[in-house]
Amino acid sequence: DATVFSMIQPTGTVHLGNYLGALRPWQSIQDRAAAVAGGPRVIYGIADLHALTVPKRGRAAAATLAAQRREAVATLLACGIDPERATVAFQSGVAGLHTELFWQLSCLAPMGYLNRMTQWKDKRGGDPARERLGLFAYPVLMAADILVYRATHVPVGDDQSQHLELTRYLAERFNAWYDCDLFPLPQTLYCGGGHGKKVRSLTDPQRKMSKSSGDAMSLVYVTDSPEQIRAKVRKARTDSISDSFYFDPEGRPGVSNLLDIVAGLQEVPMATVERDVAGLRDYGAFKGYVADVIVEALRPVRERYARYSTDTQYLQSVVDQGNAAATEIAAENMRRVRDVVGLTQSM
Ligand code: TYM
Repeated sequence: DATVFSMIQPTGTVHLGNYLGALRPWQSIQDRAAAVAGGPRVIYGIADLHALTVPKRGRAAAATLAAQRREAVATLLACGIDPERATVAFQSGVAGLHTELFWQLSCLAPMGYLNRMTQWKDKRGGDPARERLGLFAYPVLMAADILVYRATHVPVGDDQSQHLELTRYLAERFNAWYDCDLFPLPQTLYCGGGHGKKVRSLTDPQRKMSKSSGDAMSLVYVTDSPEQIRAKVRKARTDSISDSFYFDPEGRPGVSNLLDIVAGLQEVPMATVERDVAGLRDYGAFKGYVADVIVEALRPVRERYARYSTDTQYLQSVVDQGNAAATEIAAENMRRVRDVVGLTQSM
């Protein structure tokens, strides 16, 4: 039986990359799963333990994280995640189970493999005295997140594919080590015809659009106002060919990123987008067109966010139910893991 599972970190506002690479596919998967009897189980989580790999300091830290966790739930609902169709849970709300499996997998995870993870190489810093175990072990916790639900399908953006490879490696290693077949090997799912699985920075199309970018002009947040969206698209880095607009990611990365965003949001092939922009003869018209598409596509998200973000009672009830439902599934799976490993509590 299929289980779809994915997570997002509650660190900062959700941007177009998160939306196109993950949250919109999450919604369509949830809707398709609900449409068939006996369809896959769907679980979406908020990775609040992963958020601690970049810990905030001091007395204000708790309030900041609490606000970010609340915003993350509101954003998921705003992006169309429906608690009737998908379980919405916190990593920390499934008490002890993600972290217990994390430990089991850590005991099988080769340091050399973790040392090659690109995210670690990008973020480690370089001063060994300051490098932290949590950041190094990040992908092992992610593998545990997935495997604790024995998930079969994981919808994520392109930047997570190396972590999914590690997850399959650890699942196989666990199965082989204990000579069992407990864990399925989870598949990476890309949706939207592949458009939007790697949305790039508006100001530097060589880089991905990223929450950790210091430059607010480089990303469009799903909660941005129409004016903010228009201003950001107008300033997006493009090129000097200003009388025709076509998809050429190597030669025209900026323009191609904008076209890719449009194709992703409209869920149409690139040829359709190219035809739609064929009559536009300058950057004012082209960027105006792109901005209009984004403003309209994000309108329902903006409106729902305004409604949900202040309804803490509703948000609370969603996660209370979601945490309980997720815990039930994870606890059953962890019972099986403990059996296999030899940690059963009966003498
Ligand atoms: P996070 O919070 O960085 O991102 C959430 C999702 O958004 C996707 N994404 C993008 N997709 C396209 N273009 C972009 N520019 C872009 N930026 C981000 C990510 O691929 C992701 O799908 N490690 C994960 C969270 C996590 C997780 C898990 C995911 C923790 N445990 C278990 C799946 C399963 C992360 O940091 O995602």
